[in-house]
Order: sequence, then structure tokens, then C-alpha cells
Amino acid sequence: MQSPIGSAKYLSREMFEAEQAHLFRKYWIFVGMKQLLNARYAFISRQIAGEEIVVQNVDGELIAYRNVCPHKQLKIQSEKYGKRPMICRFHGWVFEKSGKPKVIPHYDELYRLTGQSLERMCLKMYSVKAIGNFVFVNLADTPIEINEQFSSEVICFLEELSPCLDDEIAYTSVEYKSNWKLGMEIIQDGNHIQFLHARTLSKLREMPSVRAGAPFKQYSEEEARIGGSEVSLKALSVIGHSPQRVDQFSWFEHVQHFDKISGYLDVVLFPNTHIISATEGRSFSIEYYHPLSEDQTEVEIQTFLAKRRSSEIDKQVPVILLAHFRDRTAVFAEDVEALESVATGMSVGVDTEFGIHEDSNYRTRYWFSKFASEHGV
Ligand code: FES
Ligand SMILES: [Fe+2]
Repeated sequence: MQSPIGSAKYLSREMFEAEQAHLFRKYWIFVGMKQLLNARYAFISRQIAGEEIVVQNVDGELIAYRNVCPHKQLKIQSEKYGKRPMICRFHGWVFEKSGKPKVIPHYDELYRLTGQSLERMCLKMYSVKAIGNFVFVNLADTPIEINEQFSSEVICFLEELSPCLDDEIAYTSVEYKSNWKLGMEIIQDGNHIQFLHARTLSKLREMPSVRAGAPFKQYSEEEARIGGSEVSLKALSVIGHSPQRVDQFSWFEHVQHFDKISGYLDVVLFPNTHIISATEGRSFSIEYYHPLSEDQTEVEIQTFLAKRRSSEIDKQVPVILLAHFRDRTAVFAEDVEALESVATGMSVGVDTEFGIHEDSNYRTRYWFSKFASEHGV
């Protein structure tokens, strides 16, 4: 069945701009794990919809600010992760919790700003919410409720998973030339593993089966054009388990086992986050797809173990993480090669055909076809 949205439109500059304005500025976007924000002055900085954002621990509270100094627009926190107060590196201004400048060095000699100027020097703040340890930011002035975006099943899953995750995280990021949505699609295409990942993942994974009770529903062109309501926003975030053989490692006995996972875990948090466990809940990866343009994506990959049972494996953790990390990035490199090639193929206007096991890809594209017509793409 043919894609409900044409390739040219799906990957276009107009679509990218509509996504930035009406998707990334409207919905809750995952920014990172709370474990990394527990310490005083800990922060995570991100770019969302072209805007620099920092989520900062201020007196134990998580606050999201625009990460741009209102004086001369320097990025205040220049690292992705770190621990430092909101002090601008350019002229040393210090910002208080409300976002106002608290200290302006040499104020009397060099600045003497009027009351109105000082008012304008306040950092803009955004909404932050955590589901368990998963921290999200919303850039809208009046954000939707987070439970309008994620089903109670997904929220419960993240809440239950959170206390089982360890505090030590390894991360890296990779840039590649393809549209971010294609990266989110490949996650839900279980049949590429035995072929594309023949040298890596396929040793463990089994053939996907078509999920019982999820028959393929093809939406009519008319439904796509007028924007039917059959595909709800919540249906785009999915918890998927697929059969696999799990290699047994000696370190398994030293970490807790999140036993709500059977087989390989793939969780899609719409729009741009993917959670994976290839060890049935003893270790995890989170991938965050950041659209840089319509044909350029940056992915951050984080890996971590389940909570340690004892300090006995403290010394081994970096080595285990490194091995885990190496495996995950090898798999990801295979995906990237395919994603770049697919993006090139689609750019000549060839439209995708979907078979019955690709219903989740079809549903997502249907949702985007509706999104495109709503926003005049
Ligand atoms: S630019 Fe930040 S203090 Fe001047
Ligand atoms: Fe893959």
C-alpha cells in the first residue's frame, strides 16, 4: 500500500519548517534523565525547534530557561551536560531563579541600566515535566497536558522503569545526512534486522510477526486530505517487545532486572525519542533524534545499566558501558548508512510501499499527512 504522504512533501523544507513551528514547539520533547540533574547546579542543554534551552537544577527544582544571555546573546551553558550556576561567560552576569539578573559586575561604572531595560534582561522560562526520571520540556505558551500526548500505558511504563535505571550514563552523538523521521521509522521496521544487521543484531533477534489484533488499516486519500481522526497522537508512542535470545553476561547478577520486558524492547516516544533494551531490562540505550534541517539529523545515544545491586561492580561499570556502547553504535552505523541511502532515493520522488507488518510506519505517515494539510504544506 502506497505511503499516505508523498516522499517529496514528507522530506521537504516546508515540512521541516512546519514541524519546527507546530510539532517541536507544541509537544513535550524529551531532554534527558533526571539522574543527571540531581546535583546542585546540574544542567542539560538542548536545541529544540532552533531554540537553545537549558534545564537547570536551581535549589533542587528543575527549571527550563532560554539558554541565551539577554545582554549580548551568548549561550550561557555551552556544554550539553554539566554543573555550574547560570553565569554568563561573556561579562559575568549572574541570573537568579526567576530568570532576572541578580549580579551585574561593575554595574555602576559600566551599565546603569534603566528599570525597563533591566526588566527586558529576564531569561525566558519554559514548562518542564518529568515522568519518573524522564524529563520533558514544552516550548508552548500554554502547553498541552502531557497525558494528552502519551497514553497511560506509556506513562506507567516510564514511571515503573525510572527507579530501575542506574545513575552512570555514557553518551555520544552522531550527525548524518537524512531526515529525522526516517530514523524514527526504521525503529519500527522489525524485518530489516535479519538483513541490514546480519553481522550485528541478527544473531540475537528473531523474525518479527504481524501483531495479533492490529490489522493493517489503510486510510483513504480523502481521510488523509481532510485529516481524519483515526490516528491519535497517543497511538504514535509505542512500547514494543520482540522475541530474541539474550546472551548471558556475568554482570547480570550484579544489577537489578526490570522484569516487565520480554525479549527486545523498543519504545518510541513521539516525536523523536527511542528507548531500547537488548538485555531484557539489565541495560538500556536512549536515542534522541534532533532534526538539524530537512536532510540533516543529529542523534544522541545514551547507554546505561539497570540499578546496581551492590558496589561490587562499580569498577566494571565503565567497561561494561563501553562494550554496550560499542555494540549499539555499530548497529547504529548500519542504520545510518541505510538512512542516508533511503533519503537520497526518496528525494527523487519515489514513493514508499508498505506491507502488512509495517502498519506503525503507515500510521505515523498518515498522521504526518494530516499534519501537513493542517499546516498548509
Ligand atoms: S553577554 Fe552575557 S553578560 Fe554580556
Ligand atoms: Fe536498525
